[in-house]
Amino acid sequence: MKADLIVGIQWGDEGKGKIVDLLAQKYDCVARYQGGHNAGHTIVVDDKTYALHLIPSGILNPKAINIIGNGVVVSPEALIKEMKQFDNLFGRLFVSESAHMILSFHTLIDQAKEKLRGEKAIGTTGRGIGPAYSEKIARAGFRLGELRDVEALANRVMEYLEQNSAIFQALDIKLPSKEELSAELTTFSEALVPFLANTTQMVWKLMDEDKKILLEGAQGTMLDIDHGTYPYVTSSSTISAGACTGLGVNPKDIGKVTGIVKAYCTRVGNGPFPTEDHGEIGGRLRKAGHEFGTTTGRPRRCGWFDAVACRYASRLNGCDELSIMKLDVLDGFETIDVCVGYEVNGEVIDYVPLDLENVKPVYKTFKGWDKTKGVRRFEDLPVAAQEYLRALEELTQTKIGMISTSPDRNDTIIL
Ligand code: IMP
Repeated sequence: MKADLIVGIQWGDEGKGKIVDLLAQKYDCVARYQGGHNAGHTIVVDDKTYALHLIPSGILNPKAINIIGNGVVVSPEALIKEMKQFDNLFGRLFVSESAHMILSFHTLIDQAKEKLRGEKAIGTTGRGIGPAYSEKIARAGFRLGELRDVEALANRVMEYLEQNSAIFQALDIKLPSKEELSAELTTFSEALVPFLANTTQMVWKLMDEDKKILLEGAQGTMLDIDHGTYPYVTSSSTISAGACTGLGVNPKDIGKVTGIVKAYCTRVGNGPFPTEDHGEIGGRLRKAGHEFGTTTGRPRRCGWFDAVACRYASRLNGCDELSIMKLDVLDGFETIDVCVGYEVNGEVIDYVPLDLENVKPVYKTFKGWDKTKGVRRFEDLPVAAQEYLRALEELTQTKIGMISTSPDRNDTIIL
């Protein structure tokens, strides 16, 4: 059976957590394909709050298997901490033996480089994501499977640290001794080796057995290393194609693709964001939508829905459907704008150009509505909200499959 996929369509934080949590109940397996503990969402089940950064949301469905694929960069420290929230993960969580590790020096490099960039900082989460992926591509990374032989791994890491000592000195990074390193790697090895697996084989077997698999993307399309607002992006392939390299599924193995998108836009970190509103509207969206980062607590930049970027993202991912999140955050606005084009040098374009920094959004204004919060049927939405949603379908050339009208699992309209 083909695997379904969910992917972020904007700059991350679209509310994928609620949808994966909702869908995870219906899948035999949930598998992550990229990113690391830069991602994050909290899920409340029976009054208990779980913070998930690396472990797929399927962990809250006792019958589902959860896979962290080879394309994810795994901080053993962060994963072990996250695993402690759950009683018995054995047989329910599998981590690719070929996934690359984020070690403490990757994190220190990330933070030191951001400091050096000054005003041009990317605004990373400071979790070591970029340096770990850089070293993977430079063929100088460390894979989880190497934890099976701590002595050999410690030697290899020491060799790497010595070879790069000039860089560490220049960045004023203190390195661990061999003893400290070996002790840390031993802890990682003891905790994680029992969970390592050849996850590509596992996914293929599950597919051959007609099991239902959900592929879970992190971050969002506009943060994709190739197709996002480079260099203000994360270091992985966040789009649906990332699932092919990050889990070993082939393009023909992917079934339904659902793009998750907020009814407005947000972004954390720096970089272009055409519809950002620095004034009252942005502030109101931030307050109503509780737009503060789950991983770093940073206030998110906010603005109106960008239909040009969404249409681009939908095509890149091959979205069959969009899930529109947080519609209720727009409740009470007298009018609502949607970006339908970009003005560049006096000309209006309808695609995402290389330089998104210097475009001026062209807006179409829609009538606002009173209340959508908690509505569970499309027919019960105010007419203006129905018109807004139908217009988004047309502008993004993608059908809407789900609409979320509050954080509650049940406040979801399924079309
Ligand atoms: P990094 O992934 O930590 O290297 O950060 C690179 C960029 O991606 C920064 O702008 C971050 O704010 C952004 N980013 C990374 N992870 C997330 C996420 O889960 N949600 C939203 N933005 C993210």
